[in-house]
Amino acid sequence: MTVTDLECGIAYELSGVSRTYSLGGHEVRAVRELDLVVDAGEPVVVVGPSGSGKTTLLQLLGGLDRPTAGSVRFEGRDLAQMRDRELSGLRLQTFGFVFQQFNLIPTLTAAQNVEVALAPRGVSHRRDAAIRLLDSVGLASRADHVPGRLSGGEQQRVAIARALANEPHVLLADEPTGNLDSETGAEIIDLLLGLTGDGKRTVVVVTHDAGIAARARRVIRMQDGRVLDGSADAQAVGTGSRTGGSG
Ligand SMILES: Nc1ncnc2c1ncn2[C@@H]1O[C@H](COP(=O)(O)OP(=O)(O)O)[C@@H](O)[C@H]1O
Ligand SMILES: [Mg+2]
Repeated sequence: MTVTDLECGIAYELSGVSRTYSLGGHEVRAVRELDLVVDAGEPVVVVGPSGSGKTTLLQLLGGLDRPTAGSVRFEGRDLAQMRDRELSGLRLQTFGFVFQQFNLIPTLTAAQNVEVALAPRGVSHRRDAAIRLLDSVGLASRADHVPGRLSGGEQQRVAIARALANEPHVLLADEPTGNLDSETGAEIIDLLLGLTGDGKRTVVVVTHDAGIAARARRVIRMQDGRVLDGSADAQAVGTGSRTGGSG
């Protein structure tokens, strides 16, 4: 039952998760027999080289894809077993997504871009709600600018405010700094990792950038579809040597 996981404060529990793609007769094993636990309210960075399976993993966590084997338990329920309608309900109500591309509507202001995400939820006083969300990402003063008059970092903040419109339990970000310079990227990562709402929201950020991973308390390292050290707390990433032995 769900109660056990919720009582333990576990957001995700993956066991034996594989996602294999069939490509013209041969199989690509994007994620392989992966076991992983993510605590509720935990900010996590997933790091690994291109092709290591990060996007595939994030899509499994967000109910955008299903595993070919194994279970993806979220708040105690296996996403792999859910009907399509349940899964899309979860995506709408429980998950927020941020991508490398900001995907803002160019003719709408920052506030209006956020209002678009508030509309399906029947939120009244949408303008006020949008301003509050923009304020939470440090952008209230740019509310009436269209995306073309905002910097890349500011546009990504609008996209983050939009992703928060459904008050998601989980915020999932795939290479959110891919279009940003490193200084702006670091600010965006710190913003995202701080959006746990005092432990109420789980935040998972995917990146290939080891420098960014160093900003997180917990880092999950991926290579060839596997997790290298997902259970360990991150040590400071850098040039220093790692002790590999006793843990
Ligand atoms: N839709 C797909 N069809 C076939 N192969 C795919 C598909 N999506 C991803 N892959 C392959 O799965 C592996 C992992 O991809 P991905 O999860 O996108 O890695 P990352 O995000 O770490 O770059 C890669 O070898 C990639 O080519
Ligand atoms: Mg990717």
